[in-house]
Amino acid sequence: MCGIVGGVGKGNYHDFLLNGLSSLDYRGYDSAGVTIVNEGGIKTYKVVGTVEDLIKKAPEELNGFVGIGHTRWATHGTPTLNNAHPIVSMHKEFVIVHNGVIENFLSLRTKLLEEGYAFKGETDTEIIANYLEYSYHHSDGVLTAIKKLILRLRGSYALAIIHAKEPDKLYFAKKNSPLIIGEGQGMNYLASDAVPLLSYTDKFIDIDDLQYGFLTSSDIKIFYKNDEVPKHYITKNVELLKKELNGYESYMLKEIEETPAIISRLCTNYFDGTEFKFSKSLIRSLKSADTIIFLSCGTSYHASLEGVRYMRYLGKASEAYVASEWAYEPVIFGKKPLFILISQSGETADLIKCQKVINDYGFINISVTNTPGSSIDRESTHSLLLNAGLEVSVASTKAFSAQVALLAILVGAIENRFNVIDHLRTLVDALEKITAQKENIDLIAQKLLNYNLLFFIGRGNDLIAAKEACLKMKEITYIHSEAFPGGEMKHGPIALIDHKTALIAFNCESMTNAAIRNNAKEVETRKGSIFIVSSEAVYRGGDVFSLPYVKPYIKVIPAVYFSQYLAYFVAKHKGVNIDKPRNLAKSVTVE
Ligand code: F6R
Repeated sequence: MCGIVGGVGKGNYHDFLLNGLSSLDYRGYDSAGVTIVNEGGIKTYKVVGTVEDLIKKAPEELNGFVGIGHTRWATHGTPTLNNAHPIVSMHKEFVIVHNGVIENFLSLRTKLLEEGYAFKGETDTEIIANYLEYSYHHSDGVLTAIKKLILRLRGSYALAIIHAKEPDKLYFAKKNSPLIIGEGQGMNYLASDAVPLLSYTDKFIDIDDLQYGFLTSSDIKIFYKNDEVPKHYITKNVELLKKELNGYESYMLKEIEETPAIISRLCTNYFDGTEFKFSKSLIRSLKSADTIIFLSCGTSYHASLEGVRYMRYLGKASEAYVASEWAYEPVIFGKKPLFILISQSGETADLIKCQKVINDYGFINISVTNTPGSSIDRESTHSLLLNAGLEVSVASTKAFSAQVALLAILVGAIENRFNVIDHLRTLVDALEKITAQKENIDLIAQKLLNYNLLFFIGRGNDLIAAKEACLKMKEITYIHSEAFPGGEMKHGPIALIDHKTALIAFNCESMTNAAIRNNAKEVETRKGSIFIVSSEAVYRGGDVFSLPYVKPYIKVIPAVYFSQYLAYFVAKHKGVNIDKPRNLAKSVTVE
């Protein structure tokens, strides 16, 4: 995954590089580094650890002509100083930062070894640096060497490249990893996303796959194959990209509590009081499709599961697939399939891979993302945006609720049923009621600290809530958690239950109330502890929480909202890093 930043033009790069990397550390936080070139030569500062650690190590002033920085999520090679970026080529002619994964690194390495190159670390990036240097020695300049590099590399890369002999230039290349350029005044910039550049410019250029080029302090040159390509400037909504804690102690808590406002905003964004505001061609495409296939990963996959229920309600055949599975064995059925791709970041590599397959077939695909201009947003036939604001916490929270709410509004638009907006407004009140009771959720969380195995069950909509609750719990608290359909407990998992096991049972459906309570009883009989989360309709004394009433088709949202708080409080009491759980990164840009 990883995040990259770079700039060219005379100045002090301290704030740009280090603040920029801080804003990108959602992309990885195993190691970090910066390189600056000035009259004194090339200086690199690296740490194994986070950008905060790098800030402590880097000097107060980073004056120079050109600078690059990197925050890493380790793929090839453990997080060590040798593997941390920026990476210098063997003869010290190139310094590069890289986001992505090179698939054919072994064959390139073999070739370079034959050519007398040696390697200090285990990264695929060191192979890029050395291959570039090798190509440069057999080319008439850096641009030709980059062109040759592009022809040889398989996989994904966003590269910022410093050539030691040309400190007035910052070279770049991109394929399958995001890269954006910002045009400043007397300085030009690049980064993995626009956030690091917001204080310096409002003129951005998205770089497309296989484009390469260079920046100087006053010029930007972009090439594709042998030709220079014109620059297409875009703007970014600064408000939605703000990364501020606003007095909260963690982004996760802040983002959970932004959810009600986001749902209200979705209602006004997609319904103007008299009609829905989706493009006519999008609605036509949906209406005429006989099959709706959802593709996504992680939390977004759980939102897709709700989407499947909505589409089946509309009479369509519908399935949801995990993108990393579908990418290798695409399942396409129906006479007129339509794809809905859900992704908070819009940059998830597995989903990008699926989208390429879909676009090669020429099928219509709707993207539901929180990131305008992201790869998935740009490549879709129809784009739907969550406008939920930057999600910084690695654990996705507000995006899930926004995804489900937006799908619900979409169904309202297809059926021309305006009351979906009223239902969502009731939902907003329900979420606020849950927030008002968060101390009670904290008390439940404190009890969960006593267990080393957590099971989550539910049936129907509640099963989706159970799956998402389980994912949230395991990723930020590290307590082993598993989710099952209530009825599956007795088909195996029940063997694991002892007095250190707790069962969190979502029980908000009248139809399955008795069955879920039976499942819970079976666990209690085997000395497990039970925590039943029910709704007003089915509440019984002894249940740990009662979720306020909302229309059944959106009740996964309050259940998940509750569970986000639950995981948050467990993590808080465990004293772990809530916003940056170990081994994870926010944007999963590798397969
Ligand atoms: C879980 C989480 C991940 C993401 C998944 C997909 O809290 O954040 O499971 O949901 O990596 O990411 P997007 O939605 O950006 O495609």
